[in-house]
Amino acid sequence: MAIIGKDIKRALELLKNDELIGFPTETVYGLAGNALSEKAVLKIFKTKNRPSFDPLIVHTYSIKELSTFCEKIHPELLKLFETFSPGPLTVLFPKKQLIPDLVTSGLERVAVRIPKHELALELLQSLSFPLAAPSANPFGYVSPTTPQHVENQLGNKLTYILDGGNCKIGLESTIIGEEHGELIIYRLGGLKIEAIEEIVGKVKVNDFSSSNPKAPGMLKSHYAPKIKVSFLPKNYDLGKINSNKIGFIGFDKYNSNIPIKNQILLSQKGNLEEAASNLFAALRATEELNVDLIYTEVFPDEGLGKAINDRLKRAVA
Ligand code: TXA
Ligand code: MG
Repeated sequence: MAIIGKDIKRALELLKNDELIGFPTETVYGLAGNALSEKAVLKIFKTKNRPSFDPLIVHTYSIKELSTFCEKIHPELLKLFETFSPGPLTVLFPKKQLIPDLVTSGLERVAVRIPKHELALELLQSLSFPLAAPSANPFGYVSPTTPQHVENQLGNKLTYILDGGNCKIGLESTIIGEEHGELIIYRLGGLKIEAIEEIVGKVKVNDFSSSNPKAPGMLKSHYAPKIKVSFLPKNYDLGKINSNKIGFIGFDKYNSNIPIKNQILLSQKGNLEEAASNLFAALRATEELNVDLIYTEVFPDEGLGKAINDRLKRAVA
């Protein structure tokens, strides 16, 4: 069992000694360690049971720090980084040698992000090194959005979880980089594409089909809760089956063929930001329902709806 608390000093001590902590951010909770220490980084991979080919995001507190870890900074990427940091955006920049190859899984670029979370920023500012932090879930499982989620899944492998409350955004950061002068989104996430395109014009979104060598972590099947999740086929007659054993995760309206007690709506108001912030907790909560199968639906293909659909597709795969 890990202790959940707000003691920054304790978190600092652990991190300085190459130990890991549960780390709050506005997107999801991270499993953080010293990004410049191979020992700490190895612990991250081991604790998460994460394959070593899946690189980690480096978290820092200020844009000024960027030149310490990265070089040949692309002007449009810098503009995005400046516009949306701190915030749910991760940018890939060519890495300097200071960043261990382990962090980037041998890739030439390092992923950098400044979380928009007071406690996280306070911690990062007090450290003399940046933090490598993947989401604090065992590999392939749903990301944690509360300290308790971290405790439930990794509590036996951690001593301390820094309590920063519930994650406001609830989806991982949007990841962007550049290839041959073209900006590419590698992961849809907490920052809307529309906001990015307002600054730099149209960007390409990589199709995330199966494993993609450019963003190796974006495996097709991910975010899987323990109960099977499926999209509800259009015009499907649920009346023919025992709907008592069926659950439903929907946007704003209940499904009239499934018992209400088996249903979770992500935003009764029909607000996509609210739906995004509730998604991962809902996927976890399905494990408490006494059902054999969870149906879900396709969300509106706009704003955070795109990222919600991306995560649901992976939960289904
Ligand atoms: O919101 C977030 O981004 C959270 C919080 C904790 O900051 N972190 C997070 O980390 O979601 P993780 O490790 O679960 O997902 C990071 C993704 C992985 O899919 C990985 O493949 C990709 O970022 N990534 C990291 N470094 C990369 C690199 N150098 N090139 C390509 N993809 C990279
Ligand atoms: Mg993750």
